[in-house]
Formats: sequence, structure tokens, C-alpha cells
Amino acid sequence: MSRNLSFIHRFEPGSNAGSPPLLLLHGTGGNEDDLIPLGRMVAPNSALLSPRGKVLEGGMPRFFRRLSEGVFDEEDVRRRALELADFIGEARDAYGIAAPFALGYSNGANIAAAVLLLRPDVLAGAILLRAMVPLSHEPQPDLSGKPVVILSGDRDPIIPAVNAGRLAAVFKQAGAAVEHRTLPVGHELSQVDVSLARAWLEKNEALARTG
Ligand code: MLT
Repeated sequence: MSRNLSFIHRFEPGSNAGSPPLLLLHGTGGNEDDLIPLGRMVAPNSALLSPRGKVLEGGMPRFFRRLSEGVFDEEDVRRRALELADFIGEARDAYGIAAPFALGYSNGANIAAAVLLLRPDVLAGAILLRAMVPLSHEPQPDLSGKPVVILSGDRDPIIPAVNAGRLAAVFKQAGAAVEHRTLPVGHELSQVDVSLARAWLEKNEALARTG
């Protein structure tokens, strides 16, 4: 079931209205189908909202333009992050869902980080898998209490550890409740990512319920 909204997307209803929806954001070359299995493993009962990035790089969908690997077109990052934030609002109205937690991988994690910096109101929190700093002049949002987990790889050839650490520091400074774990892996995802993301989400769901 997918309505005609501003992003091509897939929507999978949840089986428990109390479980927060997940916004799934794929990596470069992915699409709206890619992260559905991961989303189901991390949040078996949640609604899943999975847009396809609108930018094409050599035919591969992404969420924003880059000039080269790790060098972003920051004007486009800003524009696309705001566009994605608007889509989240549209989808909430269309499907009657609460503010989602983002679950983003690589380029999808980077656009989720940009949305948190520019329009934090649209996300309940975020699981960022292999993320880096998306904007060199970070805005100063108020992320008080916003739960964010960053899972990095200590053998990631694309994301320098220092960059992921800087992202965690930016969110902490903005008041977010940040967990940053560095795993003995590369850029690819591992079973440990799935287990940690699932446990983190369960803990934060429970915290949200008890206020
Ligand atoms: C990006 O472009 O967002 C990052 O370099 C990750 C990637 O997509 O390779």
C-alpha cells in the first residue's frame, strides 16, 4: 500500500499502533525495497515508511548530490533534507502515523543526520548506521533529549573515525541523548548492527511510553 506522495516510497503498516514507525533511508544505489527486511528485524511490529532518494548518480539513487566521495554539495543537502522533512509530514497525514524514528544506512544515515540538524521536529529519534557529518557549518538546533544512536565501523574505508566522532559531538552539544558505538567492522552492515539497533529501539520505545 503506497499513496501518491512527493517521494516514490513503500509503506508497510505496523501490527502494533504503540510501536513507533520507522523511516528507512537506503544507501547509494539502493531503493525503497532495500531496507524493508532490516526494518522488520529491528522493529517487527512498527509501520515502515521507505522513500527512494531522488538524486541519481550514474543511475544510482541517493538522497543528495555529492561532488566526490565524502565531499557533499551542501546546498543540495539542505534542500533535500527539507524536502524529505516535508515528505514525512505528508506521509504522517496520509497514513495516520506518529513521528518516525529514522533508520538510515550510509547516504541514508547522512540525510537523516541533516534532517535532525535542520528539522528535528519531524523525527522522534534516529539510528544512524555508518554516518558522517553532512554539513560543515552545522546549524545549532535544539535536540534536547532526542535519542540518537550512531553505529560506526573501525575498518570503514569511507568514513574516518574522527568524522563519525565529530557527528556524535555535534548532536551531544545540541542536547541529544547520543550513544556512539564503534564496531570491529567495515562500511557494510553486520548482525551486531541489527542486534544493537533493535535493543536500542526497544529501550527508547519503553522510555517514550513511561515519559
Ligand atoms: C555519502 O555520499 O553520503 C557517503 O559518502 C556514503 C556513501 O553513500 O557512499
